Amino acid sequence: MKVLGIETSCDETAAAVVSDEAPLIRSNVVFSQLAEHRPYGGIVPEIAARAHLDHLDPVIARALAEAGIGIGELDAVAATGGPGLIGGVIVGVMEAKAIAFARGLPFVAVNHLEGHALSARLVAPVEFPYLLLLVSGGHCQLLIVEGVGRYRRLGTTIDDAAGEAFDKGAKLLGLGYPGGPAIERAARAGDPARFPLPRPMQGRAGCDFSFSGLKTALRLAVERRSRGGVLVPADAADLAASLQAAIIDSLADRTENAVAAFKALHPAGRTLVVAGGVAANAALRQRVTALARDAELDFVAPPAALCTDNGAMIGWAGLERLRLGLKDGLDFAPRPRWPLDPAAVPVRGAGVKA
Ligand code: KG4
Ligand code: ZN
Repeated sequence: MKVLGIETSCDETAAAVVSDEAPLIRSNVVFSQLAEHRPYGGIVPEIAARAHLDHLDPVIARALAEAGIGIGELDAVAATGGPGLIGGVIVGVMEAKAIAFARGLPFVAVNHLEGHALSARLVAPVEFPYLLLLVSGGHCQLLIVEGVGRYRRLGTTIDDAAGEAFDKGAKLLGLGYPGGPAIERAARAGDPARFPLPRPMQGRAGCDFSFSGLKTALRLAVERRSRGGVLVPADAADLAASLQAAIIDSLADRTENAVAAFKALHPAGRTLVVAGGVAANAALRQRVTALARDAELDFVAPPAALCTDNGAMIGWAGLERLRLGLKDGLDFAPRPRWPLDPAAVPVRGAGVKA
């Protein structure tokens, strides 16, 4: 089975061909719209939607060419159906439906978060149930993945996502966009202990996250150190390192609570997975690796290129759904919000998209 996966929910226009036979990833083409958004210091939804329109056809053509197949050899088409920036999601879903209709193929609308959640199974034979720390630009959640389409949310952010904490922090430090990689780079030369920033939620029961107080503390520290609005590079590096350490400490503290909850609910569960764009961060991966070892769980993180948004994870989630006989009608309506665990209490803080 060969599935075309299309991802257009944010600022990457991506397409991939995945298969249920090795090699699972036949191609994985990601066009980053960074250059188009950079002048604005963040993603402009209307620019993103138009850029997806411009780039999606050539990106799909390249994905097919790199996989060495023609469009006639596809068995199904999967596209991100939400959550995300609705203009972009509409572009991807319409394109996928058009290909499916023209070729008489099944269409699968994939929850973007399920794409991240199942990406671990694209790189390792991870069995259900597993514990997932899902950290991206729009989401920050701890979930038990009980099966395809079966999620139990243990915690979520009550304000910003972890990726937003990196992105907003980088903006305050004048490090540009996207913030995660910029903070990680600057932090390598910095002292993480120099600025004692708060560790939000640390020591509290439960698995929820909060990052807006950390952002305020960082802003105050920046204001104290800057002269005429400018930081000297050594201060920027120390602040970046201190911010990264605070975010990682907070994520680790919440994840420890989630491990306890996971073990209580699923004593036979064996694996801790971290996924989503922030999981590309090497310091976070190191920290969660140690946490998993202490908890006697296997640790799985997709390689960095499969942590940030890509078409392979969408194609793979589509393939997993198809194997269970799950597909969608051409009347599927794109969903700007789409929680993985509909039973979980909705949190409607700023920046929380599901
Ligand atoms: O999963 P993703 O590509 O898009 C969403 O679904 O949101 O995640 C993007 C987020 C951005 O906030 C970006 O700053 C963050 O992931 N990110 C990182 C790193 N690479 C990307 N954060 C920390 N360290 C990184 N190396
Ligand atoms: Zn994502």
